[in-house]
Amino acid sequence: MFEDLEPQAPDAILGLIAEYNKDPREEKIDLGVGVYRTPEGETPVLNVIKDAEQRLVDTQDSKAYIGTAGAADFNSAMQNLTFANAEDEDRLVTIQTPGGSGSLRVAAGLLTRSNDKVTAWASEPTWANHIPLLGGAGVNLESYPYYDTSRHVIRMDAMLKGLEKAPKHDVVLLHACCHNPSGLDPSEDDWRAITDVIVERELVPFIDMAYQGFARGLDEDAFAIRHMAERVPEMIVSSSCSKNFGLYRDRVGSLSVLCTDSKQRDIVASQLGRIVRTIYSVPPDHGAAAVSIILNDPELTLKWQVELAEMRERLIMMRELLNNALKEKAPQQDFSHLVRATGMFCFLGITAEQVETLKQDYGIYLVNSSRINVAGITESNVEYLADSIAAVL
Ligand code: LMR
Repeated sequence: MFEDLEPQAPDAILGLIAEYNKDPREEKIDLGVGVYRTPEGETPVLNVIKDAEQRLVDTQDSKAYIGTAGAADFNSAMQNLTFANAEDEDRLVTIQTPGGSGSLRVAAGLLTRSNDKVTAWASEPTWANHIPLLGGAGVNLESYPYYDTSRHVIRMDAMLKGLEKAPKHDVVLLHACCHNPSGLDPSEDDWRAITDVIVERELVPFIDMAYQGFARGLDEDAFAIRHMAERVPEMIVSSSCSKNFGLYRDRVGSLSVLCTDSKQRDIVASQLGRIVRTIYSVPPDHGAAAVSIILNDPELTLKWQVELAEMRERLIMMRELLNNALKEKAPQQDFSHLVRATGMFCFLGITAEQVETLKQDYGIYLVNSSRINVAGITESNVEYLADSIAAVL
């Protein structure tokens, strides 16, 4: 049965975790996978999650199935967090999913059920798993220009021109905030211009929001979604709670679909139920139940927002720290895009060979494309990091 199978290369991002763990060097630095780290280099469970989990242990009286859509209180809380607009309620369906990836996968199922020749346009570059995940689920993929690798800015004119070429009813995959891998997001005016093209060309926005709260704030980071929701008839939003609730391994996310009217919404909801049933049957409960406790309790919501702001602010500080250190140690190269980017990521702007040398000679792990996770920077490793980068330039 299996004799013709070819071995698969390790995942470009997740593969780095194992490589890093195996490295015996004391001074090694992990700038690979997108998880948050404290100044001590740890990824602890958020205090607010501990509180919610305690409440869950004390009060949960059953582990029986909830259903394909997950828990209604989680879904309405996530819908509010994403859209903050009760006016859309009768056009919106939101379901609980196993993380953002599960959400993307269910959305792909909805797209291929709607149109078996569906094409989605993704930014060049985009999250390394977008293409295999959506492509593997039967969605055709095209790309639109996004990142200027020499000037480290968004190629907004080229992006708009690229989208103008997309055939009517094609899907446009966008990152709501903290663009992964570049960290550069369109401005609010840029989002308005992108929406104009989407409306004019009758395209369907498919927005991946994996980092709500990590760029500017919970509401600010949802600007693109809320702006488009006012102007487009149909839209898909995949949200993840992996980063902003630190629930990576618990797999918590949601999928929202904005429909033209409540009748279409009910049909879409029934389709989503069928898709879920044929992939994973029902979503995992634990993490989503904790999120629901937090979002449905004003005191815990506030506590969460404070912890989220701490994470966001630390990332901003680490960007500044590295940029300042590089200004001193590698003045020949401009790294100011590090502080223009938001969230966890940005490109260093070095070659794949230089990335390899950082790994082999200095124990510094980052994705081949030179994407770094700035959460891996600390006050104690930034000097070594900047010296090592300067040495490979
Ligand atoms: C990342 O891009 O590093 C994260 O989104 C984690 C992942 O699953 O790739």
